[in-house]
Amino acid sequence: MSLCLPGLDDYLLSMLPERNPVLRKMEAVARERRIPIVGPAVGRLLAQYVRLMPARRIFELGSAIGYSTLWLAEAAGPEGRVFFTDGSEENARIASAYFAEAGLSGRITVLTGDALTLLDQTPGEFDLIFNDVDKEGYPAVFERALPRLRPGGLFISDNVLWRGRLRLPESEDDAETAAIRAFNAALYASPDVETVLLPLRDGVAVARKIR
Ligand SMILES: C[S@@+](CC[C@H](N)C(=O)[O-])C[C@H]1O[C@@H](n2cnc3c(N)ncnc32)[C@H](O)[C@@H]1O
Repeated sequence: MSLCLPGLDDYLLSMLPERNPVLRKMEAVARERRIPIVGPAVGRLLAQYVRLMPARRIFELGSAIGYSTLWLAEAAGPEGRVFFTDGSEENARIASAYFAEAGLSGRITVLTGDALTLLDQTPGEFDLIFNDVDKEGYPAVFERALPRLRPGGLFISDNVLWRGRLRLPESEDDAETAAIRAFNAALYASPDVETVLLPLRDGVAVARKIR
């Protein structure tokens, strides 16, 4: 799902340089099985933030078959550590096979279960936390993930423009839209983060922890 004008997304995607063939393979599988993934434009954005920081310790909430995980792990470099989390054991198995194929298993810790519980159970601070769980969980993720970031760390969330539904009156919100609306408002209102919302694909929120 992209919020770009018709045709503009194709233009944007057509310019992306060649990427890891394992990522290409995962994109085809995701398309075929209708698995929602961030796609190559947002994947590249994540990788760019990882390299800019540079981020070494990364926690991902909601990893599916590990597509965004692979972008994060590739960019984090050999000293990087990325925590994959998903509720599905099958997703974790599929993802682990892709990580091995890409030669990046050594940088990735695969965890299954509730992503927030797994975050609570994983000690230490993170340079970057990427949030892509079920949308109703977003407000709770913000509350619990922020204390786990180091000052200057990034909290990045996907789907924050939710297929454009946020432009409709609040009275038409379903539970997911209401949760994202509350989440975005909290991100902008918080004195603890500096937030920028990028209208790339389905909307990406990038919040830098100030203190
Ligand atoms: C949008 S997909 C993630 C896509 C992935 N980030 C990517 O771009 O490649 C969301 C995934 O998160 C998982 N999920 C949703 N809520 C979760 C939760 N609370 N705990 C663990 N996994 C969750 C779902 O099973 C699904 O596989």
